[in-house]
Amino acid sequence: MATGKLIVASNRGPYVVRGRSRVRSIGGLVSALEPSLRASGGVWVAWSGGHTTIEGTDDTEAGYRWREVHLSAEEVSGYYHGFANRALWPLCHYFLEKCDFRKDYWETYVRVNRKFAAEIQATLADDDIIWVHDYHLALVPHFLRPVLTHQRLGFFWHIPFPPRDFFQVLPWAGEILRGMLGSDLVGFHSPAYVDNFLSCVQDLPGVRVDRERLRVEYGRRRVLVHAFPVGIDCGYFRALVNRGDVAPAAARLRRVLGVDQLGLAVDRLDYSKGIPERLHALELFWERYPEYQGRVSVIQIAVPSRTQVDAYRTLRRKVEEAVGRVNGRFSDDQWLPVYYFCRAFSQEELAVYYASADVALVTPLRDGLNLVAKEYVASRTDGRGVLVLSRFAGAAEELKEALLVNPYDLDDMVAKIHAAFEMPVAEQMRRMRALQERVRRYDISWWMGSFLGTLLDGQVIRQPRV
Ligand code: UDP
Ligand code: G6P
Repeated sequence: MATGKLIVASNRGPYVVRGRSRVRSIGGLVSALEPSLRASGGVWVAWSGGHTTIEGTDDTEAGYRWREVHLSAEEVSGYYHGFANRALWPLCHYFLEKCDFRKDYWETYVRVNRKFAAEIQATLADDDIIWVHDYHLALVPHFLRPVLTHQRLGFFWHIPFPPRDFFQVLPWAGEILRGMLGSDLVGFHSPAYVDNFLSCVQDLPGVRVDRERLRVEYGRRRVLVHAFPVGIDCGYFRALVNRGDVAPAAARLRRVLGVDQLGLAVDRLDYSKGIPERLHALELFWERYPEYQGRVSVIQIAVPSRTQVDAYRTLRRKVEEAVGRVNGRFSDDQWLPVYYFCRAFSQEELAVYYASADVALVTPLRDGLNLVAKEYVASRTDGRGVLVLSRFAGAAEELKEALLVNPYDLDDMVAKIHAAFEMPVAEQMRRMRALQERVRRYDISWWMGSFLGTLLDGQVIRQPRV
């Protein structure tokens, strides 16, 4: 089948427009889509990230075109801060108490999804391939379906897809599911999310689910549903760490901090990431194992996120109180237990932290996948380092040689943090080899190639996993 250009659509684009300047967006979706689009070329239809409009939508340097979707303040408030981040996000991360299912949020969400569909249609040509991303745009496939002739349309859901009983709490659950079923292929990060999605859609009238072939018969159409865990650009991270200036910067950091071992956590400031829970576990770790006081410090990078939403502002206060509590309790004039940075770093800067850290603490309460875990693994060019990884991150299904932990279980957290700092080098290297093999094999080009290959072939090819 001849193919035209690739049209990717997501809420978040490569940059956030602030006045007349642009700031790089932070988050797993952009980290995954940017290198994919740079490799393939095409058009990226995405929100400008603010309410302002600036001229010029071409990002020619990067090799693809960015078609900005401009949203009014009212649209941003109802669709993004409202329905996406006060209904779908907390629901899918199992935070029912944080959900606000306001009807006006839903109505704005519908309107903005129509707007995205119209933007895609405006650039659509015969033989193009459309790839729509994430929970902000679940209705776009449904709105586009009537205008498609023979173009293929794929959809990727980047966050957890919760079990049926949970998802059905959403008053518009049926509409969201039917929206996604406007696609030819729906992708998730893990087979568990595929399973949950299939259980939800089998309740819809006129739908037949074939679990064996991983497909849904919907009206006269057939929709494939499959897991494609997103990968990273391993070569990029390895090259960063091998750059002449990174090793000296990492060594300098270790010298300045003056500790035997260093832990690292890198998250958006999001309640799904389990940051206060992690800080609490660290406090108990230093209390139960006082021999580690003065010998281990932890760097916590927390990137401000969705600051218009109350739950995120409350979280920031909670995290900062916890950092203050731990440091106030244990620090002395020679040693600080937790170094806290509440700002974004470039991936070049992150490489220095990845290269410096003996232990990475990736302990979200719930996470679609978590790219930081894979980036840490890819950056350990010396083959050492320990990844402590939440069982409730999608990445845990692949990264089995990590120290898997239940972030809700304080004792388990303390025990795994202790085990990580105690782990002999030979065991670190054995685990890290296996992790690196998998992260390298299932990298970002595997993700893109297997999703788009399946979309074009029209059938799921099950691949054996290492
Ligand atoms: N990231 C970054 N700068 C920072 C913190 C994070 O560029 O200061 C990037 C990080 O490299 C990763 C992404 O943001 O690629 C976070 O993705 P992840 O899947 O871990 O979580 P998400 O933020 O999407 O929930
Ligand atoms: C998660 C979502 C992405 C989102 C990112 C950052 O990774 O799956 O769709 O872009 O978080 O969140 P933000 O609200 O800043 O786009």
